[in-house]
Amino acid sequence: MQLTDTTPITLGVIGAGAMGTGIAHVAISNGITVKLFDSQAEAAIRARDSIAARLAKRVQDGKLDALHADTAVSLLEPQEKLEGLAGCDVVIEAIVEKLEVKSAVFQKLEEILPKNAIIASNTSSIPIGVLAAGCQHRDRIAGLHFFNPVPLMKLVEVIPGPDTRGDVIQVLMEFSRRIGKVPVLAKDMPGFLVNFGGRAFPTEGLAIVHEGVATPAQVDAVMRDCYGFRMGPFELMDLTGLDVNYPVTRLVHESFFFDPRLRSTPLHRYKMETGQLGRKAGRGFYQYGKETDALEEEERFTATPVQKVCVHGDEDKLIDLLLACNIGMEPDDDGSSAILIAPYGEDVSSYAANHGLDHRRVIAVDVMGDTSRRVTLMYAPGADETLRNGVAARFASERKVTLIEDSPGFIGQRIIAMLANLGCEMAQTRVASIDDIDNAMRLGLNYPQGPLEMADIYGVGRIYSLMEQLQRLTGDDRYRPSQWLRRRAQLGLSARTP
Ligand code: NAI
Repeated sequence: MQLTDTTPITLGVIGAGAMGTGIAHVAISNGITVKLFDSQAEAAIRARDSIAARLAKRVQDGKLDALHADTAVSLLEPQEKLEGLAGCDVVIEAIVEKLEVKSAVFQKLEEILPKNAIIASNTSSIPIGVLAAGCQHRDRIAGLHFFNPVPLMKLVEVIPGPDTRGDVIQVLMEFSRRIGKVPVLAKDMPGFLVNFGGRAFPTEGLAIVHEGVATPAQVDAVMRDCYGFRMGPFELMDLTGLDVNYPVTRLVHESFFFDPRLRSTPLHRYKMETGQLGRKAGRGFYQYGKETDALEEEERFTATPVQKVCVHGDEDKLIDLLLACNIGMEPDDDGSSAILIAPYGEDVSSYAANHGLDHRRVIAVDVMGDTSRRVTLMYAPGADETLRNGVAARFASERKVTLIEDSPGFIGQRIIAMLANLGCEMAQTRVASIDDIDNAMRLGLNYPQGPLEMADIYGVGRIYSLMEQLQRLTGDDRYRPSQWLRRRAQLGLSARTP
């Protein structure tokens, strides 16, 4: 089967839940006839009515032409039996995530459909090869993984099984474009592309909180204000729901034979098991619907601001920040002022010990991200509280301030390095092409850049050295650099070099 812009196509959708309804919605909106079946009586009719209501609202708001809405709804044909899908060219299965239920449907589809019809699954976690294994004509079976909510999310992952024909993949890519999506080709690996690559952001945020370095609100604020993310990891987990996020994290970790890079923390599981599922439960990492929304709380620093500081090291970005904030600098250490440093990947304790500095007066500033709105400050155990709070208060008159406990790589350096490193590992293990890795992470997760682009922006050498420092100081192989990253750093190449 070859698909062009004008080839008429009939799509079958099985499952009229959140995903099946969304897929039917985008298909009929793009002129494709859809036969929708759900094992629950009336579910397909209810799905059609809900799509019709959504389209009617868009007409009312002046965003959609009434004729277009009517035509779209007329293209949706609810079916009472699976046999009603007999004439379909492509069938997408979007039913409950249970292997035995999906396999039974696949076997029945083989009886109903002609041999050249394509069967695709929207599964998030079952390998396509496993679904196909129970079928006779495995060459027309593939994964077509949409994201929730389907009408808004542009990305679709196309996943070949071990026997899938190339032309089947081509048709699914073309079909995805026809319904307004951006398809990426992903390997049949646990989590495919996005659910694998998306593990670094939440788990490193959780690691930072687990170590008592910062609170979820502090982590989120830094990732938003200094690193350009629309949401921090904890807001994102609350939005998607811990009942979705935790099982995916666990599945991917287990599937990669407990690779520490993908490891989460006990708090993640605890939130899920205690029903603190996020927005939908009114409580997750934040409380919702209360007068004081923790998301909006900003730290206040009321100490007497220091007037001058000393600077150790020659990081220009620190000097520029101090100049921009009009903070006076002593030419040398006067023995009493705070000593400001701007380490990459090193914590205050290690830096002070290595350079013979008085750790009580050392305050570290993260200058890797954008410091024009928020500044992250970090101190060692035993820090002089008056001095520390005085430095925080001085910055707070110019910027928002996040004051955290000692950590190699602050908040942002750690999360960015982990994201970029996992992106490099995805490239190394050929999960997808370089372009698809970056596109998928931007479109599927709303990251400001793809992970390989991120490595290039912050510096491949810098990211590699951050990972090395993190691994050395923590002794944790969670932070071992990807070989893809190491080679490109050693050769001075872009992370996107094939
Ligand atoms: P859902 O629970 O909202 O809907 C599933 C529907 O399938 C229900 O209406 C149910 O009655 C129907 N169903 C169950 N067994 C059936 C059978 N044997 N034959 C016909 N219909 C049957 O589930 P949701 O969220 O729409 O997920 C569907 C699939 O999409 C799953 O494989 C899931 O992993 C995957 N997925 C879900 C995403 C999400 O964010 N919800 C994102 C991407 C993929």
